[in-house]
Amino acid sequence: MKILFIASEVAPFSKTGGLGDVAGALPAALAALGHDVKVVTPRYADVKDPRLTPTGHSVRLRFPFGEQGGPILAVRQAERHEVLFLENERFFGRPGIYGDAFGEFGDNHQRYAYLSMGALQAAQRLQFIPDIVHLNDWQTGLAAVALRRGFQHTPLSRARCVMTIHNLAYQGQFGKDIMGELGLPWDLFTAHDGVEFYDTVNFLKAGLTFADAITTVSPTYAREIQTPELGCNLDGLLRRHQGRLVGIVNGIDAHEWDPATDTLLPARYSPGDMSGKAVCKRELLRRMGLPDDEAPVLGIVSRLAWQKGVDLLMDVLPTALQADLRFVAVGSGEGHYEEGLRALRARFPKQVGVHIGFDRGLSHLVEAGADFFVMPSRYEPCGLNQMYSLRYGTVPIVRATGGLVDTVEGGLDGNGILFEAFHPAALLAAIRRGLALYADPPRLEAFRRRGMERDFSWAVSARRYETLFFTLRKE
Ligand code: ADP
Ligand code: GLC
Repeated sequence: MKILFIASEVAPFSKTGGLGDVAGALPAALAALGHDVKVVTPRYADVKDPRLTPTGHSVRLRFPFGEQGGPILAVRQAERHEVLFLENERFFGRPGIYGDAFGEFGDNHQRYAYLSMGALQAAQRLQFIPDIVHLNDWQTGLAAVALRRGFQHTPLSRARCVMTIHNLAYQGQFGKDIMGELGLPWDLFTAHDGVEFYDTVNFLKAGLTFADAITTVSPTYAREIQTPELGCNLDGLLRRHQGRLVGIVNGIDAHEWDPATDTLLPARYSPGDMSGKAVCKRELLRRMGLPDDEAPVLGIVSRLAWQKGVDLLMDVLPTALQADLRFVAVGSGEGHYEEGLRALRARFPKQVGVHIGFDRGLSHLVEAGADFFVMPSRYEPCGLNQMYSLRYGTVPIVRATGGLVDTVEGGLDGNGILFEAFHPAALLAAIRRGLALYADPPRLEAFRRRGMERDFSWAVSARRYETLFFTLRKE
């Protein structure tokens, strides 16, 4: 099949979170199954890969606010896997992906309308007529609409469209005046099943409504988003469409995240020889300015957002740190969480290490050097860090929600520790279970081994997408 994959971030070129990881790895896995995959994404100002090559083609789109265009550049990742970058100085020439220190960019509706429609036009220009157009999150939702309205008389219209929800809470909602601004036909707003959502324009809803199939990134999250509690006001729509909604758990990039070959680590290790993990722990403590000793280390690497439950962790840590425990955090995001982490560090300078910022090398070092990795998420569509942790022999302590349920095994002979209630007592009890496990080396060893031996590579999940794509084509 020919697959056109559209995403607003694609690792290793651009990344704010797991979407970037998935947009880097899933297309590669589909290409490895023999499909032709082209990924389309913006060329943000920070994308400076020396392999970027002009295709000789460009995008040109007419909007009521003026014509917008720019060249299409490409990086070939593998024989059947190419990443196309849309260059446009006005929309993507500034630093930042979705926003900057002052908040979200005010023209994101224009920027991502440009990505969505520009990606379809790029495929046309390159004469790549896809069987499947695979969209990801709200930034690409308008492409589902454009396939049916705008490109309906072109060869692209025979493509089946799949929309993947990586996070239902981010919907791309804008005032209805953008209908005219972007030149979208008004009947799309007034139609019963259109782009309108509580009198606003909702890009994600548009994608969900016009796509032929909807996926999300774990089976548990697929069920949860059909409930009012986690449905973000779209649960009704998702229940109506439940026949074409499926949860497919993410995989991990098994080359980037392999403790046996990871060059970002000071030492490598594998289930047969774990000595390198101790070297990583020592280096992690050194980097975080903490004393080098045998105490257990609890780590976190996270976007600092409400979703991630950092506040719950802050509630519990002053008590948890009464035990002989170290805590290390790498993250960036909302200012009050950053402040909270810095304050915790100031209060417990010998036990807490904090790095505020986005740091790929440190994120690997935490996965390798920590003994436990904590994810007290309020909700978690899939989560990748817990899988990285398992692979690195670091026991995850996670809240039983979304993809965390589908990837971490609790119980006495599991590979991680799960807790149910989003409540300080429940998290504290889970951390204490971790400390008890740490005090019992043979049992800890067994937990680690079971985690490291589980296969989280993309091969299995890519097959599930493939099956879905084949089914859609037959419909
Ligand atoms: P989400 O996409 O909701 O942020 P995931 O667990 O799916 O959560 O993916 C997060 C990804 O972003 C992981 O690859 C993680 O290592 C990375 N990440 C998050 N924060 C940082 C940071 N401050 N520095 C480096 N990597 C980070
Ligand atoms: C989102 C979710 C995260 C998921 C990632 C990749 O950012 O918050 O749980 O792992 O997308 O699908």
